Amino acid sequence: MNSKIIFTALLALLLSSSLAQQNNPQIEALNQYIEWIKTNPKVFINDDEKLFRQTVFLENFQKVQDHNSNTSHTYKLGLNQFSDMTQEEFAQKILTNHSIKSSSQKLSVSSSSTSSTSIAASFDWRTKGALTPVKNQGNCGSCWAFSATGVMESFNFIKNHVLTSFSEQQLVDCVTTNNGYVSYGCNGGSYQQALQYASKVGMKTESAYPYIGYQGSCKVSGTSNGYKPVSFSFISSTTLALQTAINASPVSVAIDATNLSMYSSGIYNNCNPSNIQLNHAVLAVGYDTQGNWIVKNSWGTQWGQSGYFLLAPNNTCGILDDPLHITA
Ligand SMILES: *[C@@H]1O[C@H](CO)[C@@H](O)[C@H](O)[C@H]1NC(C)=O
Ligand SMILES: *[C@@H]1O[C@H](CO)[C@@H](O)[C@H](O)[C@H]1NC(C)=O
Ligand SMILES: *[C@@H]1O[C@H](CO)[C@@H](O)[C@H](O)[C@H]1NC(C)=O
Ligand SMILES: *[C@@H]1O[C@H](CO)[C@@H](O)[C@H](O)[C@H]1NC(C)=O
Repeated sequence: MNSKIIFTALLALLLSSSLAQQNNPQIEALNQYIEWIKTNPKVFINDDEKLFRQTVFLENFQKVQDHNSNTSHTYKLGLNQFSDMTQEEFAQKILTNHSIKSSSQKLSVSSSSTSSTSIAASFDWRTKGALTPVKNQGNCGSCWAFSATGVMESFNFIKNHVLTSFSEQQLVDCVTTNNGYVSYGCNGGSYQQALQYASKVGMKTESAYPYIGYQGSCKVSGTSNGYKPVSFSFISSTTLALQTAINASPVSVAIDATNLSMYSSGIYNNCNPSNIQLNHAVLAVGYDTQGNWIVKNSWGTQWGQSGYFLLAPNNTCGILDDPLHITA
């Protein structure tokens, strides 16, 4: 209650006086909130909810300030659409509580991708027109569907020279346990199951089956609905295998994104290697000369580096644990 009163008093002061001009950190934080809420408009169910969100925002803003003031960190934090969510809410709503790792129907690991063909010192599919614009999954744990459309869009571009955006909503609605798949719509799922489905049914385009961000009934039937991946396989869990695969096409990967929500730029490495939960699916689209992975996310362009982020080399955040690529 105390903080509620203090907050309300500060807010009143801020709105009614020239204190905003002064160099007071609390006033600065409130100012940040007022700016942030303009670009992230919210509907609050009541005043308590509003106050709670403001308090969470102020705590997160403090974390951003503290983190960024330490120059030994390799990445920066920033404000974004998740700034008024607690880490627990973020994990529950945006990440998946089902492990991404496909246990039951594990495909064979392709051996060709580990052969010592020469690979580029760095690679970036963003510069080759192989990627659709960054998308936004909203408040739905459908990352797996975005990773799956991403890997199909790129492979289709490389093979057929057309860049077509595919429908995540089709995957969310149709790759379901009712249809015999091990995948759970907005509660998480599997890009491997999505590719299995797409290889049989075919992919609708984004405009033909637009994204709404919650699970509905499956609106496709038959088996000729568009692009179909012909074959796909997991890649062995080494840096060389993933780099080799990326030289051929972008790759679906699963990572631990528990601490990723407030990332804004730089090389992300804040995962505990002894406790990796694969709770987010993304698309590996390149690597730089230092071996950092270039990754496309599905949290919109306001997040991270225009929607992308860099992960430190090797198996940071579990990126080598479950990589899947299309081979034909
Ligand atoms: C700054 O970050 C480094 C690396 O994460 C850490 O070891 C160090 O304790 C931090 N320093 C402060 C003052 O928090
Ligand atoms: C995942 O979260 C959803 C929604 O909160 C819940 O219904 C489901 O039971 C959870 N699944 C697991 C495996 O925890
Ligand atoms: C998230 O960050 C905290 C603080 O740096 C750290 O203690 C924790 O291990 C991290 N969680 C994961 C899953 O990496
Ligand atoms: C991590 O990657 C770097 C650069 O690619 C490499 O030199 C190093 O040997 C790797 N370390 C491990 C533990 O695999």
